[in-house]
Amino acid sequence: MKAPAPYPYQTLAVAASEREIREETPADILGITAAHNAAFGRSNEAVLVEQLRKEGVIAASFVAVEQGRVVGNVVFSQLSMFSSGDAISAVALAPVAVLPDYQLRGIGSGLIRSGLALCKLRGYDAVLVLGSFRYYGRFGFSPNLARNVHSPYSDLGDHWMALELRSGSLSGRSLEATYPAAFHEVD
Ligand SMILES: CC(C)(COP(=O)(O)OP(=O)(O)OC[C@H]1O[C@@H](n2cnc3c(N)ncnc32)[C@H](O)[C@@H]1OP(=O)(O)O)[C@@H](O)C(=O)NCCC(=O)NCCS
Repeated sequence: MKAPAPYPYQTLAVAASEREIREETPADILGITAAHNAAFGRSNEAVLVEQLRKEGVIAASFVAVEQGRVVGNVVFSQLSMFSSGDAISAVALAPVAVLPDYQLRGIGSGLIRSGLALCKLRGYDAVLVLGSFRYYGRFGFSPNLARNVHSPYSDLGDHWMALELRSGSLSGRSLEATYPAAFHEVD
């Protein structure tokens, strides 16, 4: 008897327990590039990740892996942030990508929550992000907290958000954030 044809969406029917979310290893790099290219439909974000890696400023990079395939990635990179001469240890969250066929299944959230937890463990005090409040608000990012943080992106209204990993690290003072050069080199 002929074997039944495989269910066409079987690769999507993976239980969350078969998904691994962990820090990247060198073996993941091609998969990370592919995930960003597919999720954004262009190569800018994959190039950004490559440049951040070359600059040596990646603070944390997590991958989601299903059946040996990288299906998502998030990168946190070190920022320079000062308030009247005092340095604040902060990171930028960008980019984050999940392969189109794997979106809306909690993978982006899992990556971001894992990355935030590790950045906190590594002693970072705050995280900055540019994006939609509807998405990033659920992780605690707030446009209000970012109001006193100045950077080339700080005039983007509610898209410019911050999160304190150490309570009080951002509030009540004016801050100047400088992004890694890669952000200026890549559109
Ligand atoms: C944004 C992205 C990383 C989210 O990953 P994901 O695994 O699909 O997201 P999750 O399953 O964790 O979360 C799903 C929720 O996020 C919301 N969401 C997803 N993308 C969103 C977006 N661009 N803006 C606002 N909300 C978004 C969904 O509506 C859903 O909301 P609900 O929980 O209220 O139903 C993914 O959609 C992606 O790779 N998009 C293309 C690249 C991109 O835009 N990256 C972010 C740049 S700021």
